[in-house]
Amino acid sequence: MSNVDLAHKTILVTGAAGFIGANLSQRLLDEVEDVKMIGLDSVNNYYDVSIKEYRLKQLSGYPAFTFIKGNIADKELVFAPGLLPPLLHLLQVLHQAVFLNQITPLQLLPILVR
Ligand SMILES: NC(=O)c1ccc[n+]([C@@H]2O[C@H](COP(=O)([O-])OP(=O)(O)OC[C@H]3O[C@@H](n4cnc5c(N)ncnc54)[C@H](O)[C@@H]3O)[C@@H](O)[C@H]2O)c1
Repeated sequence: MSNVDLAHKTILVTGAAGFIGANLSQRLLDEVEDVKMIGLDSVNNYYDVSIKEYRLKQLSGYPAFTFIKGNIADKELVFAPGLLPPLLHLLQVLHQAVFLNQITPLQLLPILVR
């Protein structure tokens, strides 16, 4: 599926109940060997919540998918030990750099996706 080998990895998808997040999650679950997915989403009501609930119901059929309902801005949730995979600990450090005005969110993006 990609140039990055995601087999046997735990992947955090933010916005997992959204259009892209849910489709990406499903595709990774279908195609990547022994992948574990953690989906984080606040399930906001920007549009019909029942659409997001339907997507999450589909994803809940995968034993390798775990859903956490919450806001990425909730520090207690995000920093809870052991809750989210190691990638987020990296994000933590990088986000702190944003909070401290050492880098801008736009400078952060290419670091996160490379
Ligand atoms: N859909 C497209 O065609 C398209 C194209 C280009 C870029 N994008 C970008 O991709 C991203 C996802 O798009 P989408 O169409 O899946 O949107 P979407 O609204 O369907 O999904 C976004 C999800 O993020 C969740 N969310 C929002 N704020 C949150 C927060 N603070 N904490 C946790 N969850 C939160 C929402 O509840 C929602 O389920 C967006 O940044 C969008 O701008 C989308």
